[in-house]
Amino acid sequence: MLSACALSGLAQAGTVDDAVKRGTLRVGMDPTYMPFEMTNKRGEIIGFEVDLLKAMAKAMGVKLELVSTSYDGIIPALLTDKFDMIGSGMTLTQERNLRVNFTSPFIVVGQTLLIRKELQGEIKSYKDLNASKYRITSKIGTTGEMVAKKLIAQAQYHGFDNEQEAVMDVVNGKADAFIYDAPYNVVAVNKAGAGKLVFLPEPFTYEPLAFGLKKGDYDSINWINNWLLQIQKDGTYDRIHAKWFEN
Ligand code: ARG
Repeated sequence: MLSACALSGLAQAGTVDDAVKRGTLRVGMDPTYMPFEMTNKRGEIIGFEVDLLKAMAKAMGVKLELVSTSYDGIIPALLTDKFDMIGSGMTLTQERNLRVNFTSPFIVVGQTLLIRKELQGEIKSYKDLNASKYRITSKIGTTGEMVAKKLIAQAQYHGFDNEQEAVMDVVNGKADAFIYDAPYNVVAVNKAGAGKLVFLPEPFTYEPLAFGLKKGDYDSINWINNWLLQIQKDGTYDRIHAKWFEN
């Protein structure tokens, strides 16, 4: 029989304790988000957030297991125990925060635009795109999509399953702009751009990225937030950041 404590979750010490007992921390991510989580030629998942998570697992004394999950299903997957935690470049939004708990942010980003080269000069900010003649793309289930529908509501919006297809739509001239998190666009403009894209680097939203846990799991939030403070002061965070962002 379940006790009242077990029912309310009070008896459990949470995800981090479970991971320590199991010897593995299972993190759900959609490894399409450069340079945070992406798949290299050898099929390994690498990136800034992956390195942070490796350091986190090491500090817990457990193995890290990455569970690939499509982005639009990632919150339901956490809630149905497919993994312990979301570590997927997730923006801490108030709407998502009604469904999951978040740790302190590990970085702050914002939406930016990659536009078709021919539109350079004509499009100086997202506001200039807000007309029905423009077609914009992003990835389904992301804040890029939410912001496109909210702030550029007059334009035609087309959502893609992955970032790369959404960028290619602009490279191929089918769409006018791709809206997405700044760090991704910094990498994409050189990688996929092939001289056909222009990056408008000024972020126009405020988006803290954080790790997501089930509601009520304050013990885990406490451990992770204290670990984040530690690595921000002892050089670990700066070393990992420099590896992915300063080259
Ligand atoms: N920060 C954006 C969001 O929360 C995009 C994150 C996409 N992450 C990924 N692993 N593909 O919606």
